[in-house]
Amino acid sequence: MTTFRENLLAGKTAFVAGGTSGINLGIAKRFAELGAKVAVAGRDPDKAARAAAEIGAIGLSADVRDYAAIRGAMEQVADQLGPMDIVISGAAGNFLAPALGMSANAFRTVVDIDLNGTFNVFRGCHDLLNRPGASLIAITAGQAVNASALQAHACAAKAGINQLIRVLALEWGPEVRVNGISPGPIADTEGMKRLAPDAATRQSHFDRIAMKRWGKIEEVAESAVFLCSPAAGYITGTILDCDGGSQVGDASRGDLAKGMA
Ligand code: HXC
Ligand code: NAP
Repeated sequence: MTTFRENLLAGKTAFVAGGTSGINLGIAKRFAELGAKVAVAGRDPDKAARAAAEIGAIGLSADVRDYAAIRGAMEQVADQLGPMDIVISGAAGNFLAPALGMSANAFRTVVDIDLNGTFNVFRGCHDLLNRPGASLIAITAGQAVNASALQAHACAAKAGINQLIRVLALEWGPEVRVNGISPGPIADTEGMKRLAPDAATRQSHFDRIAMKRWGKIEEVAESAVFLCSPAAGYITGTILDCDGGSQVGDASRGDLAKGMA
């Protein structure tokens, strides 16, 4: 995919928390292709090293639930690559479980990774940013807005992230822009392996989405490039849905309309 001009991000430093696999690794890879100096972080050091080698980045091990650890990782990035222009908060945990099948620790664990982790990453990076002009992006989900059974922990955490984005946009503008990306179901990801493990669930997703397919990691990456590029210079405090129309409504009714036209 070559939708943005080469070297768009030359001279920029980007840090991707949770960037060692899936969607976030795809974002980090695209940043590197466009000339940015990139660092990725996850909990597993071997996975971080492999991901970093794959895309020509620095790989770090840090748990976003541990403020000192993630702050230390970002200090290392700023030392080695220079003040950060772009920070992505994308670490997340998820599993399907009814609220009554979740211990307090199970609920807390997901909120801690997704929501508290995003606070830790953004709070911890602020004085390491290249200001003015820095761009922060949190990876959220449609479940922040539309409730989903078996997802009490993730729905609550992502809803919190959406509001955190808006507060930080107010507090940190005009020097720093803070936005979110809300991916729909994205193919070949750990998330969809966990949330749509069987063919029937996958088909029901396709039927309800205007675009009639799952998204590609590369499509979410292009949204991230847009949001941190000068083209989005007047955009802050917003959530960009990159979801094939998932949030718009139920597209199976659209099929009915086609039949009646
Ligand atoms: C019920 C469960 C459970 C399950 C774990 N727990 N899996 N409870 N059903 N299927 C409980 C455990 O029993 C424990 O509670 C608590 O959760 C913490 O579990 P640990 O294994 O100790 O936690 P940890 O090692 O920190 O691992 C976190 C994790 C794990 C979230 C549980 O799955 C993980 O590391 N995931 C990261 C990768 C990932 O999930 N990627 C997909 C993101 S997709 P007790 O009480 O027993 O101590 C995504 C899609 C977004 O986010 C779209 C929707 C918003
Ligand atoms: P993924 O491959 O499981 O990626 C999760 C990343 O976060 C990995 O790099 C993981 O590495 C890291 N991570 C997990 N817990 C961490 C912690 N406590 N501290 C630091 N790093 C941690 O997931 P994905 O499916 O691509 O999802 C990526 C993002 O998109 C998430 O924010 C998710 O909520 C969002 N999203 C995904 C979909 C989808 O269709 N997949 C839809 C909507 C939203 P380690 O395991 O080594 O820590």
